This record gives sequence, structure tokens and C-alpha cells, in this order.
Amino acid sequence: MIPPSFIQDLLNRVDIVDVVQRYVPLKKAGANYAACCPFHTEKTPSFTVSPSKQFYHCFGCGAHGTAIGFVMEYAGMGFVEAVKELAAGVGMTVPAMPADASGQTPWKASGGGDEGGSEALLAAMQRATQYYRNELKGSEAAIGYLKNRGLSGEIAARFGIGYAPPGWQNLAQAFPDYASKVLERCGLVVHTEEGKRYDRFRDRIMFPIQNQRGMVIAFGGRVLGQGEPKYLNSPETPLFEKGRELYGLGQARQAIREAGRVLVVEGYMDVVALAQYGVGYGVATLGTATTPLHVQKLLRQSDDVVFCFDGDEAGRRAAWRALENSLEWLVDGKHISFLFLPQGEDPDSYVRQAGKAGLEALLKTEAISLSGFLLRGLSARADTRTREGRARLLQLARPLLGRIKAPALHLMIRKQLAELAGISQAELEELFQIKRTRRAGAPPHADRKLRSTLSRRLLQWILFQPPFAQRVDTGLLDALDSDTETLAAVLEFLRSHPQISYVAALVEHFRDSPHEPLLRQVAGEIMEWGEDLDLEAEAAAFEAALEQLRDKRRKKRVDELLHQARSGSLSEQGKLELQQLLQRDGIPAQK
Ligand code: UTP
Ligand code: MN
Repeated sequence: MIPPSFIQDLLNRVDIVDVVQRYVPLKKAGANYAACCPFHTEKTPSFTVSPSKQFYHCFGCGAHGTAIGFVMEYAGMGFVEAVKELAAGVGMTVPAMPADASGQTPWKASGGGDEGGSEALLAAMQRATQYYRNELKGSEAAIGYLKNRGLSGEIAARFGIGYAPPGWQNLAQAFPDYASKVLERCGLVVHTEEGKRYDRFRDRIMFPIQNQRGMVIAFGGRVLGQGEPKYLNSPETPLFEKGRELYGLGQARQAIREAGRVLVVEGYMDVVALAQYGVGYGVATLGTATTPLHVQKLLRQSDDVVFCFDGDEAGRRAAWRALENSLEWLVDGKHISFLFLPQGEDPDSYVRQAGKAGLEALLKTEAISLSGFLLRGLSARADTRTREGRARLLQLARPLLGRIKAPALHLMIRKQLAELAGISQAELEELFQIKRTRRAGAPPHADRKLRSTLSRRLLQWILFQPPFAQRVDTGLLDALDSDTETLAAVLEFLRSHPQISYVAALVEHFRDSPHEPLLRQVAGEIMEWGEDLDLEAEAAAFEAALEQLRDKRRKKRVDELLHQARSGSLSEQGKLELQQLLQRDGIPAQK
């Protein structure tokens, strides 16, 4: 974990304009900077970077965040990685935190030096990769296997494919300190309870898995012939989290850009075989279902994501999972589709017999758009010939629809769904309460955008001018209608950190907290507020809003007291209070 104070210092040092500029050319536009959004396709710039807020926001696709968030999104880095990258750029060194008690960071627990730090793990993986590659050169059996599967030496080199020979402690040749904990921590060596140590990978073709920076973080090892398991993967380690990684992304990046498309397949061999046949834009999920993280990462790579699955029942189930995990991340202008291969084929076998042209023809004619697959999948689960079936269709569709945030796509699906259900679009919207609140199935913050409550306005002001927070009386929060928890948390934080003066610092402080989504959203909303805003007028409006709150609270108290009076339980003190309150109420409102 990185100390929070370091994050705040870092945000004070870096300028988001410089950071974004490194990747995207920015043009000055008033007090802000603008560019065509790097996160979606557009012709006129709606991507805005605010130097005073240290925040970016795209009015087109809604992408937004701080300098740290930008590096994470754009370069596809993790939080820690992004922080390190930014810190390096301004000459700061990320301090190492003492190991935390939960043991969450075991690689730091050994204490002293970097022994077992992630740098050491990466170095070990690097060395192992080298070792396996060397071993491949000397193994006729392994070379024969790869040749037999149609792979050239060039492709094997491109993917860093190697070979772990048979035997229990071969890695001792590459690592003089075979007993080192590092080897265990990065999953190369297995340590038994009886104290024995041996190589995890033996007599297997080794596929190195790289992270976004091209560092090897894990391996997949395939048996040469038959055997169980067919693929043995590295366990989850401090370097490797299965659900985050995409095999082959590093090698595919350029081809993805050129093709304007990324093809997502299931296996290592699929990716490698596709590349062998000239389809370089393939990547694989690593024997896991497609996670929301995968989807986010993929949508960052390209506007056109095609999931390719086997044509069997298992493939369809996996595709539906991928669909469900994609819904929330859909953005108008991006396209997700599904390609089901003919029964019995996988991308490897298909490209081998049909070639690049054959596969791309299939993509063109057979890929079905996400919305198409969604509607088809729903219709298959309900018999639309009967009224009951059509009702079931709607019932099934509702929670899925509730997760889609892309407005145009949402509308298209609504239209089509209404047609399938034999009702009008208006009836469907009425039924799903679409215009008013999108409650059912929707995440709790989905309808927030639609309402602008007083607390929301207060939050906007405070995010615009954090020092305003010092003027808000927390006692007033009871009078608010919603979002008060976030407001209260922000107020409390700003009370104890009065030096915080811009929104990015706030948003980073609340990263990964339940308040984060709302704060980011509100931070996006205030991007439109110009720097030339009349601060005094804003302050006056802010005061007026507070007064409105006090008023509300006063009325509430009056009602309480009147209620007590009617039931005869009003104390002398209460009477006095009531008198005072009513008097004040009588004074014309000073707004
Ligand atoms: P497949 O069984 O479809 O393998 O598993 P494949 O890619 O066609 O492999 P070849 O062609 O027989 O060599 C697809 C993916 O599922 C994971 C691997 O990531 C594999 O690439 N998998 C499969 C495992 O992790 N372990 C296994 O035992 C099997
Ligand atoms: Mn295969």
C-alpha cells in the first residue's frame, strides 16, 4: 500500500495537463484544454482537461478522472504502477510501506532490502523465461511438438515460448539460490509441507504471460502430448491476478491498432496460431471467464471488440457471461460482438484450415452484435408466442437493461424489446419506469444523474471550491434528502485537511470507497463550470442553499413541536422553542 499522504503530495507535484499531453495532443480552449477523446471515437473534441481542477472529463463518453486515473485508463496500468510512473516523472520515489498486518503483501513481509519485493519476483520470472527458452533450443521433442502444430521459430520467439524439461529441480541450474523464497512467491517452485521443494513446471511447453509493460508475470505450461492437466498455470501471485490479464496483448497491440479490432479467444494456442496465420490482433482470457476488468481493458484497446467462442453449449454459456460482464461498460460508439465458430472448431483449428481470409470472412458474416445476442438469448429463454412468455421476456430483460449506461444503445434495445414483447415503446418505458427512476436491477447510482438535489448541489460546490466546506454546518445534513453520506464523508475529510483546494485530491482520497462513483460523477459535472465563474455570486448561492436547508430543518422541528402540542406532551421549554421558531418563520425569507 502507498501512504495516502504520498498520493496527495504527488498530485500536488504533477500537472495533469503535462501528463495527458504526453499521450494526447491538447489544445488550449479557454481555461481548459481540449482534445478528441482517446477513450472513444469522435471527430469534434469533447475531451477536456482542467488545470485548476486537475481533472479530465469527456462530455462524449463520460470518461473522467485524475492524473493517476488517466494513466491507469490510458496505459492500462494498475494503481500502484500508475503512481510509480507519475512519481518517476517528477523525480519522486514511492515510499515502501511496512508490510500490512493482514499479510496482503507477503512479498514485502520478509523485511529488509528488496528480497522478495516485486522487482525481485519480476527478475526471477525474467530469468526463468530465459532459461525455458534456452531449454527449448536443446529439446527435439519440444521443437517437434511446436513444428507439428504449425508454429515457426519466429512466432515462438515472438511469444517467448520455451520448454521446461522433465526433472524436479532443473531451475537450480538457473537459480544458484534455489532455496530462495522468491521462487516460491512467484510460483515457479512448489514447497511442500514436508519441506520439499521442486519445480512447478516439468516437461511442458512454456507460454510466458506478460503484463502491460511487457514483463513476464506468469506462465502457462502445456503438456507435450496427452496428460492432465493439459495446461498448468502459475498460481495467483503478487504479480499475477488471473482475471486482469489478457494473454498476448503486448504482442497484439500494434496489430489491434492497425486492424481497428481486437479478437478475444480462449486459449494460448489460439492466440499464437492466429498470429502465425497473420491475425495478430488476438488475445486470450486465461482459462477464466471474461471479467469486467477484461472488458474495460479491451474497450480501451479498441472500439471494436469481438469475443470468439466455440459453437458448443459451453461456448454459449461463456459468451453469455462475457455479455453480462460487458453491459455496464458499453459506450455508444464502441462495438462489442460475438463470433461462434462452427461446432468442433477453435480459432486455432479454424485459422489453420481457412486462413486469415477465411477467418476474417467469418468475422464479417457471422459475428453477431452484443445487442443482437442479448435479444436472441432472451427470446430463447422465453416463449414469445404466449402472453406469459412475453411477460417473462420482459422480466428477464429488465435487470440486464438496467445495467446498460450507453444511452443510444439502451434506446435501440428498448425499441427492439418492446417489439418482441408486442407492446409499445412507451408501455415498456412505463413498465420499466425508465424516465423516472431506473430502480430495478440498476446499480444504486444509476439514476442519480437524473436528479439534482440540494445535497448534490452542495457537493458540486464543495468539489468546485473545497474551502467552501469549512462553512457548512454538519448539523444540517439531517435535512438533506439523499447522497448525504458522501457529503458527510467529504465534509469530514476536508475539515481535517483544510489545505486541500482542488477536486483531484478529493477524488483520489476516496478511491475504492463507496463514495468514489458519485464523487467522480459530480467532479465530471462541474467540469463545465468555467474558471471565470463569479465566485462571489457562487458563494451567495451557496449561502442561499444553506439557508434553504436551515429553513427545512426549522420546518421539520416546528412540525415535531406542533405534533407534541396537539398530543399535549409539549414541555415548557418546547413551547419557548416553538415560539421562537414561529417568529423566525414569520420574518420574510432572506433569500
Ligand atoms: P482448451 O482446452 O480449449 O485448449 O483450453 P486449447 O487452447 O484448444 O489448447 P490446445 O489447442 O489443446 O493446445 C482453452 C484455455 O483454457 C485454459 C488455457 O488457458 C487454455 O488455453 N486451460 C485449459 C487451462 O488453464 N487448463 C487446462 O487444463 C485446460
Ligand atoms: Mn485448441
